[in-house]
Amino acid sequence: MISKHLLDWYSSNKRILPWRQTKDPYKIWISEIMLQQTQVATVIPYYNRWIKRFPNANILSKASYDEVLKFWEGLGYYSRCKNIYKTSQIIKNSFPDNYADLIKLPGIGDYTAKTILAIAFNKGEVGIDTNLERVSFRLLGLKKRSKFNQSRAKKFLENIQDRESPGDFNQALMDLGSSICQANFVNCTICPISDDCKAFLNLDPISYPEPKKQKSIPTIRVSTCIVGKKNKLLILQRPIDKMLGGLWEFPGGKIEKNESQENAAIREVFEETNLSIKNPQYIGEVKHQYSHFKVRISLFLIHIDSDKQLQTRQDYKWVTRKELDSFAIPKANYKMLEILDKLN
Ligand code: ADE
Repeated sequence: MISKHLLDWYSSNKRILPWRQTKDPYKIWISEIMLQQTQVATVIPYYNRWIKRFPNANILSKASYDEVLKFWEGLGYYSRCKNIYKTSQIIKNSFPDNYADLIKLPGIGDYTAKTILAIAFNKGEVGIDTNLERVSFRLLGLKKRSKFNQSRAKKFLENIQDRESPGDFNQALMDLGSSICQANFVNCTICPISDDCKAFLNLDPISYPEPKKQKSIPTIRVSTCIVGKKNKLLILQRPIDKMLGGLWEFPGGKIEKNESQENAAIREVFEETNLSIKNPQYIGEVKHQYSHFKVRISLFLIHIDSDKQLQTRQDYKWVTRKELDSFAIPKANYKMLEILDKLN
């Protein structure tokens, strides 16, 4: 009954989303990866642009990674993009239709494999993300986030799922979890399954499950230096297997203990480019938050006349401010450009 009530509710309340107009596993896959850690409203324009330019895995696999990254720029968690690209080169146009083959692919874990199988191939799988897990914990009245309870919550959804419409069943739970059964907001009077919900019957739905323990997020201090030569700026490409891999940025790095911001900028420029700079101009500060840490970046500017000394381990380019717009760069670098643009 839970499943029937849920599907009835979904048929008249579902969100109309671009990836819901298709059963193409490639498109479902792209949407699911983009939607990890990212809100639906943010994903929609990225998804539409991506599908227009890369309508299938074969076309994607033949594009340059620099171009692919530009289409991901701003979505964050760039390893997702790298894994999509790698996977496109493995699958080309034959998309696997079974769990064993899907789970082997870069960036496809248990949740993604099962969700693609349910939505695109109508297979009886339940991909459990935080929304589905929360709804299941509430239905069962589970508080403690133990492995045991997580396994109960998962088995429960697998048992009650609808065999005819597994994709809709998964997406109905997603929609319920992101609208009327959110972590800190519930609207049980319009919930189609509140009669079967122990958390509701206990009159305390938001307490289920117990809140996650907040991890403290450290702040890392960084110095960055925009190096100019005539009307060009120096950018370096980040190593592909590091965080923000493949993106282009200005030279810079962590400030060491007892080191001044200016000395860190001078040292980092030297270590990354072999250029010896003197008296860079301090032009401002930028803060940015990543998933596990924050950065506070002191920003410097220096003009040089010659780059004869220049040597880098990374790829580098001298680009005009306008040319820079066609490169994929990290968000924090856009904040730096705002400071630079106001100087000129
Ligand atoms: N979040 C993850 N997958 C989703 C989907 N298919 N529709 C809406 N939100 C989602």
